[in-house]
Amino acid sequence: MTRHFLRDDDLSPVEQDEVLTLAAQLAADRYSHQPLAGPKTVAVIFDKTSTRTRISFAVGIAELGGAPLIIDAQTSQMGRGEPIADTARVLDRQVAAIVWRTFAHTRIEEMAAASRVPVVNALTDEFHPCQILADLLTVRQHKGSTAGLKLVYLGDGANNMAHSYLLGGVTAGMHVVVGSPAEYQPDPAVLAKAAEIAVETGGSAAWTADPLEAVDGADVVATDTWVSMGQEAEASLREAPFVPFAVTEQLMSKASSDAIVLHCLPAYRGKEIEAAVIDGPQSVVWDEAENRLHAQKALLSWLLARSFEA
Ligand code: CP
Ligand code: NVA
Repeated sequence: MTRHFLRDDDLSPVEQDEVLTLAAQLAADRYSHQPLAGPKTVAVIFDKTSTRTRISFAVGIAELGGAPLIIDAQTSQMGRGEPIADTARVLDRQVAAIVWRTFAHTRIEEMAAASRVPVVNALTDEFHPCQILADLLTVRQHKGSTAGLKLVYLGDGANNMAHSYLLGGVTAGMHVVVGSPAEYQPDPAVLAKAAEIAVETGGSAAWTADPLEAVDGADVVATDTWVSMGQEAEASLREAPFVPFAVTEQLMSKASSDAIVLHCLPAYRGKEIEAAVIDGPQSVVWDEAENRLHAQKALLSWLLARSFEA
């Protein structure tokens, strides 16, 4: 059965643990796994801009023994409206997996429905699950484990990072709190799904409009841009409501004294995070960015092994 990774909850708690354990092994020994030797090709398609995702998939696929095929969707026939399903049917006869960064999540669901090879979400408007695998690996490296820790995400509660922290965080047994303005709160269906998973893992999922309540005693504090890709026209509206949720040194004083700070990057210093915080001693954002490589290599290895089982 072909396994796809479109949302964080496409991996069960046990499966997520397997991927993160393999990611830690790969971080220690980068060339220990070569499931793409041949080489097999993995297509990595971008409808939006990227630095970290493009680099980490290209490097990671090569380190797994494979050949990355990076495609700017605008320069392919997809950019002129060729159906997603037709693109999937052309790709899956030639590549071992398809990685795609796009807009509406329904687009990647359409790709996965038509593809016989694994499809991986490299960010949609609704979810960014590869980033959360990297973030969870970073938490494991700095805190030893994830279960029972309080992870707070402050900022746009309705964006891809908020949704993925909710689903991926509770899958790892964390207590996830999203702090955001009321008009930017998480999709209720995602919050409900996170609460359902939390029952199984011992974690919890909550939303609050109070940044101080959110950050109180946090072990991990995360944030993201207030203006996601595709929202540029709303940039001036997406400032004032978010100011109380900026990750400042003052707000960090309410978190646990050994809290770590995550940011998926790119960061906007002086907006969602103070320079003193992102460039300060609690920040682990460079480890987090490196961990995209290890986490995605583990994910691809895991998906390919499962997808070609009898
Ligand atoms: N964090 C992240 O996905 O970065 P890029 O947009 O640079 O890929
Ligand atoms: N929420 C951001 C994440 C960037 C990695 C965006 O979608 O632009």
